[in-house]
Amino acid sequence: MFSPEIEKKIDNTIEKYPHKRSALLPLIHIAQNEQGHITEEAIAYIAERLDLVPVEVYEVATFYSMYFLDPIGKYNLQVCRTISCMLCGAYDLIEHLQNKLNIKIGQVTSDGRFRLTEVECLGSCSTAPAMQINFDYHENLTPEKVDQILAKLP
Ligand code: FES
Repeated sequence: MFSPEIEKKIDNTIEKYPHKRSALLPLIHIAQNEQGHITEEAIAYIAERLDLVPVEVYEVATFYSMYFLDPIGKYNLQVCRTISCMLCGAYDLIEHLQNKLNIKIGQVTSDGRFRLTEVECLGSCSTAPAMQINFDYHENLTPEKVDQILAKLP
């Protein structure tokens, strides 16, 4: 299913744990990093490798907000909507991004470049409002600052 290099990475990851099933989270990460999201084939493959049934992989993959079962585009814009960010303008940011990108929450732009999502607290409450783009944090945001950040993305 994966390249020999990734298969070796998967083998090495499984070997790190005394119980195979403990490698479930890292294996989902590896599959997602390789394919951009978690495919049905990846779920079946991981289940087989870890002696699980596919629904056990599916349960975990759908529980955590960092796993995606649909294509997420090149940049996954995750705007925090929890209380500190909400009070500091998160909803304005979300509306700004929806208008700017011409998409709604949960959608991907037609060029596949951006996906817009709302998430719960990112742990940056003191620098609200905050947004995560893939794995990078951006804080103390304003619509203008968001525009500057998006313009600098390659
Ligand atoms: S409430 Fe937004 S980072 Fe905590």
